[in-house]
Amino acid sequence: MLKICLTLNQKLSALITASLLFAFSSFGYTNEVPQVYSQCVACHGDKAQGNAQLNSPALAGFSAEYITRQLQNFSSGVRGSHEKDTLGQQMLAISKSLDMNKDVPALSAYIESLPPVSAAPETSGNLMNGSRYYQGKCGACHGGKAEGNPAFKAPKLAGQNVDYLRRQMQNFVNGVRGTHAEDKLGRQMAMMAKTTSGKELEDILHYISEQQIAPQK
Ligand code: HEC
Ligand code: HEC
Repeated sequence: MLKICLTLNQKLSALITASLLFAFSSFGYTNEVPQVYSQCVACHGDKAQGNAQLNSPALAGFSAEYITRQLQNFSSGVRGSHEKDTLGQQMLAISKSLDMNKDVPALSAYIESLPPVSAAPETSGNLMNGSRYYQGKCGACHGGKAEGNPAFKAPKLAGQNVDYLRRQMQNFVNGVRGTHAEDKLGRQMAMMAKTTSGKELEDILHYISEQQIAPQK
């Protein structure tokens, strides 16, 4: 009887140790570079700071939720399948090779854990006008300081490369992004993108690039 109890106890403690180890490893997970991120370094950089020459946006500090949604959208063709979207097509091909249950959660958690960077080059424009237009047309969803707003699933824009932001605005306007039948959030943004252009958009982008960088809200 005593013997049985002991073995039972040993089994139990082995089980506890195993689950503790598991808990620790999933806890420490975000600070480790997932092996699969090596596929992203060439374009997005080792700190996910982006690469202007390759038109690759910064990713560091974006919410895991946003990154996951974009990778799912690319993989299912909700984003990046338009014939004129040559840069999106690159990401579509890469996303298709990812395991949605394993790679994507690991990549998203890792990217969210990285300190945000500023990929915004020097811009010029009228800051006061930019602030006014931005608060009137964008701030309600993207946050007053372009820090993002999870309630509206709107990503942060502060710190992002302005050329990337401008191209996304053009893509939304031209139907290259946000026209897929399942892209509800993209459609919303496409409607907004059509409300601004020219000097007004440049002032808005100038305002965004002047904001402090912070992790995605
Ligand atoms: C060949 C270069 C290249 C590689 C490799 C690459 N990307 Fe990209 N990625 C891009 C480009 C270019 C864009 C911008 C596409 C556009 O303009 O719509 C992009 C966009 C993205 C976006 C959307 C960002 C946003 O703000 O909406 C995410 C997320 C992303 N990439 C994640 C990854 C991850 C994770 C990997 C590795 C598994 C990866 N990328 C590998 C070039 C690359
Ligand atoms: C009704 C809410 C709403 C408003 C208002 C809005 N946006 Fe957005 N925006 C979104 C959402 C949601 C997304 C994410 C779409 C997706 O998941 O693909 C987005 C995405 C974007 C992107 C793409 C970011 C990336 O990393 O690829 C840019 C650029 C952008 N918005 C700029 C603006 C600007 C500039 C304004 C003001 C003129 C504006 N938005 C107004 C909700 C909004």
